[in-house]
Amino acid sequence: MSDSYAKSVQASNLQPKTITGLYLDRRVPMSTTIVFPQTTTRKKVTTLTLRQKKERGEPISVLTAYDYPTALAMDQAGMDAILVGDSLGMVVLGYDTTLPVTMDDMLHHCRAVARGAKSALLIGDMPFMSYQVSVEEAVRNAGRFLQTGGMDAVKLEGGRVEAVRAIVAAGIPVMGHVGLTPQSIHQLGGFRPQGKSAPAAKRLLEDALLLEEAGCFSIVLESVPARLGGLISKKLSIPTIGIGAGAGCDGQVLVTHDMLGLFERFTPKFVKKYADLHTEMQRAFSQYIADVQAKSFPAAEHSVEMKDDEWEELLRDT
Ligand code: KIV
Repeated sequence: MSDSYAKSVQASNLQPKTITGLYLDRRVPMSTTIVFPQTTTRKKVTTLTLRQKKERGEPISVLTAYDYPTALAMDQAGMDAILVGDSLGMVVLGYDTTLPVTMDDMLHHCRAVARGAKSALLIGDMPFMSYQVSVEEAVRNAGRFLQTGGMDAVKLEGGRVEAVRAIVAAGIPVMGHVGLTPQSIHQLGGFRPQGKSAPAAKRLLEDALLLEEAGCFSIVLESVPARLGGLISKKLSIPTIGIGAGAGCDGQVLVTHDMLGLFERFTPKFVKKYADLHTEMQRAFSQYIADVQAKSFPAAEHSVEMKDDEWEELLRDT
């Protein structure tokens, strides 16, 4: 381990962990020892942990992640749960909606996140058409998230009580999702808040209660009035995780690319921007182009040298 690496591990209160013989895909020989940081103090977060946090009145923090470095940073920051959301279709893959996202897309990103996060509860989002056609398909696809995606639980949208019941019966924890459900965007008439009238709010509350009864361990409430978010959270004994559903929810989730300012196409009103990484990336890319054009990069410290005698021998022979 290099000195500077050891210092940074010490400074960040992390314990080095040694893995031997992995990373074959990176062409590292089997005998190579790879050292990387790993938190030691945090216990694995489970669905029970979230339930206990609700009971103690402790807010639950959740963000989305789609790749290894982001998941690693979130896990080290102490995130309770990480959702590999099908929002990846929009913020990573550039689609206009989440509808084109496939099971293969989801599993690919789930595996990357699972390699990065060892303590947070990992939830895989079931994509459009992976659970709507039949209960059997729903159970089979949910199983793939745990069996080959490295997830601990799945999430699915809407009041799909039969599918939830069957997936839970197979031993797979399910998170529900009501309110603005982006996979039903065409039915809802756009990305718009839900439950604003008394009858619509009552239907949402009933859906949430049915999902709890079907066995969900938690429910996402997306883009609903804050008062309704608070009311549903009080009526349920499982934790609610709000996104645009007010401070009365038991926890909060945001799409990470929104809160980091990485997704420029639009930012929903309920997002708080914690950084402006799109502008920061543009600044870094422009500076790189300028450095390459000015030949100020690479400098001596970025270059490999050879010994003078080797160099002279080369010149003699050429
Ligand atoms: O796909 C996603 O990221 C989500 C969150 C918005 C809850 O479902």
